[in-house]
Amino acid sequence: MNALVMNCSPVRTGATAEIAGIIAECLGKRFRVKAVCIDDFDFGFCKGCRSCHSTAKCVQDDGVGQVIADLDWADAIVLVSPSYWADVPGQFKSFIDRCTPWCNTHEPHAALKPGKRGYAVALRTGPSQKECLGIIGTIEHFFGHMEIEPRGRLALCSVECRKDAKTARRR
Ligand SMILES: Cc1cc2nc3c(=O)[nH]c(=O)nc-3n(C[C@H](O)[C@H](O)[C@H](O)COP(=O)(O)O)c2cc1C
Repeated sequence: MNALVMNCSPVRTGATAEIAGIIAECLGKRFRVKAVCIDDFDFGFCKGCRSCHSTAKCVQDDGVGQVIADLDWADAIVLVSPSYWADVPGQFKSFIDRCTPWCNTHEPHAALKPGKRGYAVALRTGPSQKECLGIIGTIEHFFGHMEIEPRGRLALCSVECRKDAKTARRR
């Protein structure tokens, strides 16, 4: 079984990276694990042209293809996102927008291999869980339209930087 753990923060060495690393280490006991950061990939914004609604392909050919290849390799997908202004970071949102060719609300659409399980992890500096739940909602909405079955979620509060990751609180 393969597991992909994606740090959805553009910071490669921050708190999100630390939490993603802890998860990858734990999963490594049972899965072949690949850990990536959204910043490993170079891709443009969705142009909103809707060409993919009739072609199931994007007009742009860039790093999105590699992220999709990683998602397709994985049986379990763990997306770990910090709160940036009570939402996912722009780089991650741009990736979600670029997945519109795979979105199951239009025909034809591209598709990942079936049977994937998704896990959503959100973290933030503030103390209450509500904001994390909004981010988890965004990730699970993405999973739903990509036909990845949401199987687990974790909301971590009071995490400002890397050193806080080990003492993170679930509220
Ligand atoms: C641009 C930016 C916006 C942020 N907005 C929020 C916010 O709205 N609420 C919050 O609780 N934390 C916010 N934070 C704090 C991050 O969620 C927190 O520091 C997290 O641990 C950052 O992880 P990272 O360094 O791996 O990206 C923000 C941080 C940045 C850089």
